[in-house]
Amino acid sequence: MLSKKMQDALNKQLNAEFYSAYLYLSMSAYFQSVNLGGFANWMRVQAQEELTHAMKFYDYVNERGGRVVLQPVEGPPRWRCSRTPTGTSRR
Ligand SMILES: [Fe+2]
Repeated sequence: MLSKKMQDALNKQLNAEFYSAYLYLSMSAYFQSVNLGGFANWMRVQAQEELTHAMKFYDYVNERGGRVVLQPVEGPPRWRCSRTPTGTSRR
């Protein structure tokens, strides 16, 4: 059984892993939008890795008889770039 303090810390880390995945995924989306498919793919792979980390915390809490408590995931920052992709327009 996990102490409340440990369970809270693990749930907080679980949220941080999801946030990291979200952040990488937002970067992937940006790179895809400016036709940088290789960069987009690399960021997507990183996002998947963070989801794998998150699920390790998720499983560990459950295996130790704790309770996974999912919290809202903070949104990523809006990426600003002066460069716009050729042949596209910004909204
Ligand atoms: Fe991670």
